[in-house]
Amino acid sequence: DWTSESVIDEQVARIRARVGDAQVICGLSGGVDSAVAAALVQKAVGDQLTCVFVDHGLLRKDERRQVEEDYVAATGVRLVTVDARETFLGALAGVSDPEAKRKIIGREFIRSFEGAAADLVAESREGAGEPIEFLVQGTLYPDVVESGGGTGTANIKSHHNVGGLPEDLQFQLVEPLRTLFKDEVRQIGRELGLPEVIVARQPFPGPGLAIRIVGAVSEERLAVLREADAIARAELTAAGLDDEIWQCPVVLLADVRSVGVQGDGRTYGHPIVLRPVSSEDAMTADWTRVPFDVLARISNRITNEVDEVNRVVLDVTSKPPGTIEWE
Ligand code: XMP
Repeated sequence: DWTSESVIDEQVARIRARVGDAQVICGLSGGVDSAVAAALVQKAVGDQLTCVFVDHGLLRKDERRQVEEDYVAATGVRLVTVDARETFLGALAGVSDPEAKRKIIGREFIRSFEGAAADLVAESREGAGEPIEFLVQGTLYPDVVESGGGTGTANIKSHHNVGGLPEDLQFQLVEPLRTLFKDEVRQIGRELGLPEVIVARQPFPGPGLAIRIVGAVSEERLAVLREADAIARAELTAAGLDDEIWQCPVVLLADVRSVGVQGDGRTYGHPIVLRPVSSEDAMTADWTRVPFDVLARISNRITNEVDEVNRVVLDVTSKPPGTIEWE
């Protein structure tokens, strides 16, 4: 007898009991999960909540503006943006190993939240209030399971908000969605009055484009991937495929080059992988049969419009054995 109303009532009561009249911060990513977690906490403790959006420089085109505009417009919540681009890119420089990237990103997120929390206390009316000890995260059940937090499960990958957390974490975590799947979270978001632009959004991982560059992350590589991703997303949306597709990671094989020919000469560029998947809960997935003409348009546009990319390939692997993201 699961209903979104009963989950909301139960979680709101729990959050109130746990938090009391303390201040709370919530990391907002632009995705569904953190948006719904924040909305629940806002319902529970109102303006004791401040949302923190960390711009880690690993975002897709337009993402920062969407959070700053859509979410604030929908909820009226207090939002602080932290520009942490240099810190994240510095910490990731030269790192290619997927788990190493994930751990660095998990740690830097927490450092950014700590910095934001300290600033909020310093700016508060009293100037020196209690430190903020509660951090809200939109962790879902699959994040916990795949980070090895479920009983007897192997660690598949450390999600930034679970297995990627630093050991000296000072915050107490408030994770009201920790037993839920994404479709349930979407239902709760609708019940709480969040608009479809937020609730229906396709998943995007917290570590962002860093785990879609196979190889080390750099400004230049991010710029290439961002262009390719924007084209793929625009064409899939224009083709009306957003509901059929759970998400479509676009991956840059930064350490691979292949020979091509374009205009009057030889090229030696990188491949882009398209990874459109269909899924119910991201625990398993199948590759989406995107119509050939849509794939052709995406391929033409990416190879023509994005410097450095001379080949587009399609990932036709289900999960398992592949995961959805490449790292
Ligand atoms: P995989 O690659 O494990 O992805 O099949 C399953 C789902 O989880 C998303 N994902 C993440 N989301 N933090 C997140 O918030 C993470 O560290 C993370 N890693 C993967 C992925 O996009 C897919 O929806």
